[in-house]
Amino acid sequence: MTESDLKQKNISPPFWAFAWPGGQAIARYIFDNPSLVKNKSVLDLASGSGIAGIAAIIAFARHVDFNEIDPLACASIHLNCAANGLTVYPSIFRKNFIADPTHDCSQKNSWDIIFAGDVFYEQPMSQKIFNWLLNRAREGTEILIGDPGRCYFPDGPFEMLYQYSVKTSKMIEKEDEIISRVYRLLHDVG
Ligand SMILES: C[S@@+](CC[C@H](N)C(=O)[O-])C[C@H]1O[C@@H](n2cnc3c(N)ncnc32)[C@H](O)[C@@H]1O
Repeated sequence: MTESDLKQKNISPPFWAFAWPGGQAIARYIFDNPSLVKNKSVLDLASGSGIAGIAAIIAFARHVDFNEIDPLACASIHLNCAANGLTVYPSIFRKNFIADPTHDCSQKNSWDIIFAGDVFYEQPMSQKIFNWLLNRAREGTEILIGDPGRCYFPDGPFEMLYQYSVKTSKMIEKEDEIISRVYRLLHDVG
């Protein structure tokens, strides 16, 4: 299906087809601060194309897990790893960690750092993702969020680390270039 087919059928462009501003900001922050991930175990939550996790692999993370619910996004992570010259076979969890607040995942205590790029665009999902991330922060995992000012960005205990002007597409944003910020979810909460 082509871009004009999508338009004719009023279908939104697929999430995995873009490096969203939130993920771009995280990836750039990783390249600017590679010690953040070097030798660390990383989860790229709601990875989409895999941009944040791929940046972490390139910056010598010890291990990177990707997480997505969309099977096509999972396929795109494989392709994007290859397109970036990575020879590792990506570790992808195709499951919904946040669907149920009691839902558990055995790896959750083994990640040193979790990245969540552009995840606050729908109300119910945003609240669930935020609660899930907050629980991981309380367990001591470092949580970094990339966000360009989405409607449902939570009113949480964040420290803004950096902001970037990132190139994007009018297919998904109002402008070709927008500001996207990287935040740390503070550990000493609740
Ligand atoms: C706006 S995109 C951001 C993708 C990527 N992080 C980036 O910044 O480019 C949001 C992604 O979240 C995924 N997603 C939505 N709900 C999810 C969930 N419960 N668990 C995992 N992924 C989810 C979607 O399939 C989509 O690929």
